[in-house]
Amino acid sequence: MQGFEKYYRKTWSQRLDVLKQENKLSKKQVEQLKQNAVTPVLGDTQIENFLTQFQLPEGLALNFVIDGKEYLIPMVIEEPSVVAGASHGAAIVKKAGGFQTKSSQRAMRGQVVLENVTDLAATKKKIEEQETELLQAAADAHPSIVKRGGGPLALNVRILGQGLLSVDLIIDTKEAMGANMINSMLEAVADKLRTTGHYDVLMAILSNYTTECLVTASCQIPVANLAKNGLPGLKIAQKLAQASRVAQVDPYRAATHNKGIMNGIDAAVIASGNDWRAMEAAAHAYAARDGQYRGLSTWEVVGDQLEGELCLPVPVGSVGGSIGIVPLVQVNSALRAEKDALGLEKIIASVGLAQNLAALYALVTDGIQKGHMNLQMKSLAVSVGAKEDEIQQVVSALQKLPQQDQAIAQHVLDEIRNEASENE
Ligand code: MEV
Repeated sequence: MQGFEKYYRKTWSQRLDVLKQENKLSKKQVEQLKQNAVTPVLGDTQIENFLTQFQLPEGLALNFVIDGKEYLIPMVIEEPSVVAGASHGAAIVKKAGGFQTKSSQRAMRGQVVLENVTDLAATKKKIEEQETELLQAAADAHPSIVKRGGGPLALNVRILGQGLLSVDLIIDTKEAMGANMINSMLEAVADKLRTTGHYDVLMAILSNYTTECLVTASCQIPVANLAKNGLPGLKIAQKLAQASRVAQVDPYRAATHNKGIMNGIDAAVIASGNDWRAMEAAAHAYAARDGQYRGLSTWEVVGDQLEGELCLPVPVGSVGGSIGIVPLVQVNSALRAEKDALGLEKIIASVGLAQNLAALYALVTDGIQKGHMNLQMKSLAVSVGAKEDEIQQVVSALQKLPQQDQAIAQHVLDEIRNEASENE
């Protein structure tokens, strides 16, 4: 396309100029890109062909008590009811003593895949015998993490079939999620396998199925606390448990159930500056760990308590990547007042469980639309062009109507404006 040759070599303002010169955008639109680029120098160092900083709203989730400590949790998300849902779920759990969390280990995994292996079992055995040597090659590729008490922990060789073997490296990345360090170590192991064993290396890359960093958040809520709309708490708790069972047996429901969990988790992960695609990949792979995709959380009525549990891999770090360079990430870290990666993992799992509780509670009582619509009405008002001083008027008028959508919001706004001009 004309004007875009060697686009990456142009400066930020030259790139914007091209968009104007080539009639891709109007002057006003280019100005919008410029105005939204709050820190262009930083943006230009982060990605290729940087244009602007795309904004998402950030809100604060409240009421979180995790392992006896209170937390403020910044969340970045555009969906209206997510922050409110997290705070609501957390408030119910707070009244019942808060979330408890546990984690067995915090390590990452990477794989070197070998192809054209004729005798898979014999090769597996041979490589396993080289474990010390291969772990040393990995450690030598990243001495600084070893100095900090981390580094390669173990080798795990898996037969994939069809002549394929995966040589997995389990790595303690300390405070980092560690994608770069893992990949460097894997490439060193791949070289060793290639040169000393003459194996056919297909590729070396970290795995996003991070089963070595599982975190569990749980809570117990007296069923009486759940009573609503004249329905006894026990009845609601039973419905909630039933909803969680549906997600265990039906992948169609499981995907939505987990999407609700990831609403909260992604929002907290984005605010922390971590890679939310890695988080998503890990969570969904784990949800299908026994061959069927299932809900990540479970809820059960035990005596007079509703017990909830969410267990999933949470591959995040407290250093590395954009964490150290994006100023708002540092601000969010100060808000959470939790410095280490394991603490962040536990917060994220608790947010997921709170979010899931709020969604299921709404689904088995009022239905999701009631709570959603209250917040979506604001967005509806803005989407039809309501100005700051008109938004509340539009929302109040919409609340009185049996139905709300964009056409109705537009009509309401037009009426408000007509009335205002008649009164002038
Ligand atoms: C909407 O973003 C999320 C929910 O659909 C989750 C759920 O159904 O559990 C409300």
